[in-house]
Amino acid sequence: MSNIKLEFKYTGLDNKEIIKYTEKVGKIHQELHENKNKKGEFLGWMDLPTDCDKKEIDKIKKSAKKIAKDSEILLVIGIGGSYLGARAVIESLTHTFYNYLPKEQRKTPQILYAGNNISGQYLNDLVELIGDRDLSISVISKSGTTTEPAIAFRFFREFMENKYGIKEARKRIYVTTDKRKGALKTLADKEGYTTFVIPDNVGGRYSVLTPVGLLPIATAGIDIDKILDGAKFAQEKYSDDNLKYNDCYKYAVTRNILYKDEKNIELLVTYEPKMHYMIEWWKQLFGESEGKEGKGIYPSGAEFTTDLHSLGQYIQEGRKNLFETVINIEKQESNIKINLDEDDLDGINYISGKTMEYVNKRAMQGTIDAHVEGDVPNIVINIEKLDEETIGHLIYFFELSCAISGKILEINPFDQPGVEKYKTNMFKLLGKPGYEE
Ligand code: PA5
Repeated sequence: MSNIKLEFKYTGLDNKEIIKYTEKVGKIHQELHENKNKKGEFLGWMDLPTDCDKKEIDKIKKSAKKIAKDSEILLVIGIGGSYLGARAVIESLTHTFYNYLPKEQRKTPQILYAGNNISGQYLNDLVELIGDRDLSISVISKSGTTTEPAIAFRFFREFMENKYGIKEARKRIYVTTDKRKGALKTLADKEGYTTFVIPDNVGGRYSVLTPVGLLPIATAGIDIDKILDGAKFAQEKYSDDNLKYNDCYKYAVTRNILYKDEKNIELLVTYEPKMHYMIEWWKQLFGESEGKEGKGIYPSGAEFTTDLHSLGQYIQEGRKNLFETVINIEKQESNIKINLDEDDLDGINYISGKTMEYVNKRAMQGTIDAHVEGDVPNIVINIEKLDEETIGHLIYFFELSCAISGKILEINPFDQPGVEKYKTNMFKLLGKPGYEE
């Protein structure tokens, strides 16, 4: 099992400062574990790796196989926690250009996304991209009432019925929603779609290890057992209530100490473009969990070295309210050697014979040193390699650290009352019944 190791030496913090939180974190640990199975606590994600429903996993695998057999495309309709986790895992673990590869080379369906915006242009362009190719739909909404996916699903349901006829369309639509309630559940029951359940006690942004993430992930040909194994490994690894021995809790504490020291923006940094959506998922997880009651670290992200040529200047010399958490993938799966060029007109012969990975690592070390010198503390998360197990591990690591961090901040990391405000205004403007005033 590949592992994850954290480094705090670039934070400028003494271990003693972190350890001061031992009692506080111990209490939070106890509270989370005691309340794990209580109704309404939204702590179901804590035991998902060890307690997943085997029947549901088999049903996911079976459906993924059917989709791969009868469809060239899986269209995933969902937003926020019902979308980002699947995309993060799929993009991290598949070919960088997965969706652009010829079908024979890809072997599993193209994965496309809808319902995460309200753009008609996007849907029209998507229809053009789909063309006359075969597709299936995975529509995901815990509440079953979210406007963005509801609009996209209404559009694509009609599209599917026109393309395949009602009977065949029904066999190609997979619904992941609440066990009992919501408009999507009502519709799924009426139409007889294959349905998957999002457990009551798992909130949207903590749901990637449920059918929400696992169905699209399995359809992309990724081994979901290995993802769950990695998460299980993390569940065990971070089960120690003693902060001293728990890197996940140390991460949560460190970010809170930095926050108190006016470092109120965290950039999650990657040097691997495939991790782009992992950053998007992480931003949602921490942003929606912690940004409350006028408090919280603003979660942002950067892809280096790309963004060193856009954000780099600000990070180095701008306001000193930032810290970075750098994901370092120790061993890249594939690499390129820089060849010698006799003329050396581009002036890079001094690195000939070296690999791009070697250069990327030097860029990372040089950047960490520069940013730390510029008063931007860095936390480093070293992950051995990008595989199913480490991604499962990383997901659990971030979910648990987010819960602990939110509790240290003394907010509820499992609700999102602020998201309702825009919806209420939008519904009023749209004249939704019940919102007229
Ligand atoms: O984390 C959350 O709870 C949210 O981001 C939701 O996932 C998002 O709003 C989508 O909600 P739903 O799954 O109910 O459509």
